[in-house]
Amino acid sequence: MPPGASKRPTRSLRFTGPCHNLPICDAPAFVVKILIVGSGGREHALAWKLSQSPRAERIFCAPGNAGTELIGENIALAANDLEGLAAFAKENRIGLTVIGPDDPLAAGIVDLFDAKGLRVFGPRMSAARLESSKIFAKEMMRKFRIPTALAGSFDRSEQALQFCKRLQFPMVIKADGLALGKGVVIAQSCDEAIDAIDAMMNQGRFGEAGRRIVVEEFLRGTECSLHVLVSGRRYCLLATARDHKRAGDGDIGPNTGGMGAVSPADNWNAEAEARFHREVMWPLVDGLAEGGTDFRGLLFPGLMMTAEGPRVLEFNCRFGDPETQAILPRLRSDLLTLLEATADGKLDDCALTWDPRAAVTVVMASGGYPGKYETGRPIRGLDSCVALADVYVFHAGTRRERGEIVTAGGRVLAITALGETASRARARAYEAVAQIQFEGAHYRRDIALPLVRANVAAH
Ligand code: AMP
Ligand code: GLY
Repeated sequence: MPPGASKRPTRSLRFTGPCHNLPICDAPAFVVKILIVGSGGREHALAWKLSQSPRAERIFCAPGNAGTELIGENIALAANDLEGLAAFAKENRIGLTVIGPDDPLAAGIVDLFDAKGLRVFGPRMSAARLESSKIFAKEMMRKFRIPTALAGSFDRSEQALQFCKRLQFPMVIKADGLALGKGVVIAQSCDEAIDAIDAMMNQGRFGEAGRRIVVEEFLRGTECSLHVLVSGRRYCLLATARDHKRAGDGDIGPNTGGMGAVSPADNWNAEAEARFHREVMWPLVDGLAEGGTDFRGLLFPGLMMTAEGPRVLEFNCRFGDPETQAILPRLRSDLLTLLEATADGKLDDCALTWDPRAAVTVVMASGGYPGKYETGRPIRGLDSCVALADVYVFHAGTRRERGEIVTAGGRVLAITALGETASRARARAYEAVAQIQFEGAHYRRDIALPLVRANVAAH
């Protein structure tokens, strides 16, 4: 029996699939002003979903994008302007602030809001270390016996190189700190491992984030993104998703923030879920609580589904991007109530209902992304997507300039479609993508394709 399995058999709230038709907790009649921090597709999806709440009075996004501007009001405050954001929330009597990206969490935005008596969704800095320090995350996994890759943590390059001799190739070299999703190198040879370790530890490629590193064994399998609302020892699993991290079709090319997603994940089943609760979530929430950490927010473990079962690759402490754009269009429950309950430590009052259909999200990116790219390219065809049923166009790197919407980042749009099957959702999403043009646009043509192929093979 895996560690923790017998400890506490019924602690989690398992409101996962479409079948749980439980009523949402009685919502108090007051309305709430909401502030969403961030400017990506994830934040547009959060703003869109939160705006559907009957209690959402007004939505602000800081700094937002050309999509969030259609839902609420964009505020010219950067996501890392913690004092400015807190002052805005206080002055405008914001009832709930939702933090999108990892940086402000790592910088302590939640601690600051808490100190000022402002209600905020996200973990405090000490809990957000699960994402902002891979060494800390590994220590916690070791302590709570959560299955993960065999690894060593190092602050001296000679020791790291010694440890490499114990592993086989490929092996994985990870910067300890936040590195915009670029701090992981899969080294295929000794030379590549030496180069990666030297670049991170001696040449400062990721600044302070890479001065300490994790070296770990390479795990084989397929990845799965879990999104879990956690409030102390209580937690609630959202629908599963699969990201497509590499830039090119067939999973080739450099890693990106994510080029597309599909929900639900095809590599998830009841057995995987049972093991996830027993082997990951129960030991984690118990271990954190016993150590005095009251995690409140969204925990997003990235898993590798190996032949031996789920293994944790990393913990993120915020919603995934683009997973959120695939998950939220399937959520029928009131997200505002859920986030409030999580922030207030009352998660046990809530239940979820889901649209049983599949969601497929295709990311359209600027030419050159994830490397160098240009911005300011006009985006055409957005209006023609409005007429398409069950299609959602989430903006990421966009801004309004002289009356038109132009590109303003690497990932520009995330187009989600729902369908009775992943195949139908996929066809609809690509139909919408075909309507949209901007100079240099590129996107993967194979989002959800493995899933579609597997389903065809199975019938
Ligand atoms: P992380 O930021 O730790 O999730 O790593 C980013 C990506 O690198 C993951 O989504 C995986 O695709 C890959 N990766 C990380 N760790 C491993 C590992 N131990 N084995 C195989 N692939 C990995
Ligand atoms: N899509 C992966 C992430 O948000 O980290």
